[in-house]
Amino acid sequence: MTIPLLFFSSVWFLLESTSLCHPLDPLTPSEINQVKLIIQNSHLISSPNLTFHFLDVEEPDKNDVLKWLSLREKHGTFPTRRAKIVIRVKGETRELVVDLRTRSVVSNDIYRGHGYPPFTFTELFQAIQLSLRYPQFQQSILKRGLNISEVSCLPLTTGWFGEVVTRRVVRVTCFYRGGTTNIWSRPIEGVRLLIDVESMEVIEYSDRFRAPLPEAKGTDFQSQRPSTTFCTGNSSQLSIQGHEIRWGNWKFHVAFHARAGLVISTASIYDASKNKDRLVLYKGHVSETFVPYMDPTSEWYYRTFMDVGEFGFGRSASTLVPLIDCPGNTLYMDGYMAGADGQAQKVSNAICIFERYTGDVSWRHTEIGVPGKVITSGEPEIDLVVRMVASVGNYDYILDWIFKKSGSIKVGVSLTGVLEMKAVNYTRTNQITSDIFGTLIAENTVADNHDHFLTYYLDLDIDGTKNSLVKAKLNTMRAKSSPRKSYWRVVKETVKTEDDARIQIGFDPVELLIINPNKKTKIGNHVGYKLIPGRPAVSLLSDDDYPQIRAAYTKYQVWMTCYNKTEVWAAGFYTDRSHGDDGLAVWSRRNRAIVNKDLVLWYTVGFHHSPNQEDFPVMHTLYDGFEITPANFFDRNPVLKS
Ligand code: MN
Ligand code: CU
Repeated sequence: MTIPLLFFSSVWFLLESTSLCHPLDPLTPSEINQVKLIIQNSHLISSPNLTFHFLDVEEPDKNDVLKWLSLREKHGTFPTRRAKIVIRVKGETRELVVDLRTRSVVSNDIYRGHGYPPFTFTELFQAIQLSLRYPQFQQSILKRGLNISEVSCLPLTTGWFGEVVTRRVVRVTCFYRGGTTNIWSRPIEGVRLLIDVESMEVIEYSDRFRAPLPEAKGTDFQSQRPSTTFCTGNSSQLSIQGHEIRWGNWKFHVAFHARAGLVISTASIYDASKNKDRLVLYKGHVSETFVPYMDPTSEWYYRTFMDVGEFGFGRSASTLVPLIDCPGNTLYMDGYMAGADGQAQKVSNAICIFERYTGDVSWRHTEIGVPGKVITSGEPEIDLVVRMVASVGNYDYILDWIFKKSGSIKVGVSLTGVLEMKAVNYTRTNQITSDIFGTLIAENTVADNHDHFLTYYLDLDIDGTKNSLVKAKLNTMRAKSSPRKSYWRVVKETVKTEDDARIQIGFDPVELLIINPNKKTKIGNHVGYKLIPGRPAVSLLSDDDYPQIRAAYTKYQVWMTCYNKTEVWAAGFYTDRSHGDDGLAVWSRRNRAIVNKDLVLWYTVGFHHSPNQEDFPVMHTLYDGFEITPANFFDRNPVLKS
């Protein structure tokens, strides 16, 4: 059953509540609540004081999913439905797997490695409340002539700097509203609180210095919603069943995920010449971020965030606002996740899906070579966009997956929001006498230099699971017996190992192809897809810097590894206070052979952000992304109807 878009908005809830359709469907609210009950009723966990830090579908084996997809009508409902859960209880991290069909706990293990699961929002909220009530902090506020009722505090993760880690902690940093909602523009500088989130106590407090509080004037950015309504044509090509989208020749699955945010899976494209859906991407999503600030002072050095593992992109998802976040005529999908108590929580309109007339040209040609005629043909470019927004503290990440009729998938990241700002004595640049680690962007306000890296997990399966990575080098050749002296030709080289698949994007004229060495086009080229990278950006921190050890995945922009069900999170699963002993760099160093194997491509979208005054009080979107596009995948341009 597929339902045309026109009828879609009214039947959405009906579809949501229908029985399980796809093994990668996110857990429904009732499934989330069931998981909690099954764990409670199992009596395996004796303490009532347990907190849920992760709760998601335990993915079935990929082969089983692919088998099911190919014969789903015959197979009916997928045979298993399991959830993976990470809880904290009695100071330990426990990993459980729950079977929703048999209503039983299948496994229950203690995790003893480095790092902790993400913070729950309850912990973060309590840490804020504790700070505001802390007598010494209240004294510091009073000493500054400020009113505690106008103070906002935010808990930040602390990273790891070589110390022995025994506690889950957050550093709390505070701001003064006093006439603005742009809290980031008015930091209360010099004060630090370190809070143990499990005993919920302040374990370190310092009030080191004072800096002038930047003015509230001119910092607000609250604006009116646009009053114009957009009117786009209704799509006749989009249909949806459960979480599966069909649009044009594309078919894919969309899921909301508490950690990754938006997950695209089992994306295949219909090939009319072969009369079948051909697989392109088994699963793709943001795996991890890295946002290090370039300020080694006591109040700033630890700000080296890994938002996906420490907080969760899904858990930071914003309810999308029509006509700001997504145009008119958009489908919205709600997201569900477990709260700290294991109960289902809803994010309304967490994902939007819309067709977009880009205003660009898909293809065209004007032919004047036919005598007596001027022939012009072409088509407009029409995309399908799947979008979510993660608002992690001060920053907003607009995450797009754009499907094109050409067979391309474009992944886009737009950065916006508010800068993290530091209060200083300076009001003019000519007063600056020492390194301020950023830019004076307003009076008494410095925005520190920093990076944003978003590392994507892309389990590409180009026309099947067995793939190879090919470097197509454009080599300049010397021409012989020709008036020409030079030309370039393509020299293809299959990359043999994971070591050779750590790649810096840069000036070298190299195209990266992911091919299926077992399949050829009718005329004999290997079936493949090509990576079209965005701008080059890798981490500039030194290899011995602790944040860099933890975020080693940002040293190269492209990595290719063997598929392994457990190798998904680039900074390791337990990211908070991790030591860098798990994650992409460690897996890649195994140096497995990658020829004709199930492969995973890792691509990092990176921004070096040296702020400017225009980033204040709120930043205009900054865009980058990448594209994967067919390269001898089809026998001819698939946009043309034969
Ligand atoms: Mn693969
Ligand atoms: Cu930035």
